[in-house]
Amino acid sequence: MILLGPPGAGKGTQGHVLSERFHVPHVSTGDMLREAVKENSPVGLKAQEYMNRGELVPDDIVIEIVKERLGKKGSRNGFILDGFPRTRRQAEMLDSVLHEMHKNIDMVIYFRTSEDVIVRRLSGRRICRSCGANYHIKNIPPKVKGICDVCNGPLYQREDDKEGTVKNRLEVYERQTSPLIDYYKEKSKLNTITGDLEVEDAFKSILKLFAEKDLLSIKDRPSPFHIREGSYD
Ligand code: AP5
Repeated sequence: MILLGPPGAGKGTQGHVLSERFHVPHVSTGDMLREAVKENSPVGLKAQEYMNRGELVPDDIVIEIVKERLGKKGSRNGFILDGFPRTRRQAEMLDSVLHEMHKNIDMVIYFRTSEDVIVRRLSGRRICRSCGANYHIKNIPPKVKGICDVCNGPLYQREDDKEGTVKNRLEVYERQTSPLIDYYKEKSKLNTITGDLEVEDAFKSILKLFAEKDLLSIKDRPSPFHIREGSYD
């Protein structure tokens, strides 16, 4: 499965929940690149300047780390891709890797999200420096300000969540990544949810998509529910 959408749409948050619920790895290229930066690895050193400017890291670097990750044992039963692919070249490369693995994309979930929601989410996002858990100062606050609920690590604001960089990330998304909406529409893989929904309601709309596509066992099927728009933000 591929989670596609602008920065701050909630891809990482839903990717985490889906991974826990269905025991499928959540493969986030953003997380992998941030890990490489933290470790000062050769990939991290190359990637950092692009990430801090809100630009995409060159395709060759990202493609290499994704290939390596998908080759690992835990990915045999499938995976949730978050933040990848982000360019047409990455999408074509993914098609060829999946072909070699005799796998298909079950679905692409596009998080259609309004710009004011994106800006509020990114400006309030805080991440745990130790375990990477994701918070929002208003929407998903930690129990103790500045401290991670999971491991007591300190929370920080991502460098690329600062105002000037967010604007550039949105422009980069429009120019380089949003054309993938049509790429997957043409392949009849695209499914759209409203990214503006509260976390739980966004999750329910994903479960509803799974049920429509017959990708759920009976016990996982959502009961009828009512979706509220955006009130969380
Ligand atoms: P990446 O980490 O992938 O960033 P992104 O795509 O910009 O996405 P975000 O992590 O900002 O947002 P998200 O949609 O995951 O939202 P989240 O759930 O965290 O990439 C970072 C950089 O790495 C890129 O700029 C690029 O340089 C590089 N990179 C990565 N992949 C690459 C690739 N394939 N090719 C080239 N370069 C690549 O939520 C955001 C906030 O909102 C959080 O605080 C969360 O708590 C809160 N929130 C989430 N959902 C909700 C909700 N429903 N209601 C209320 N609050 C919510």
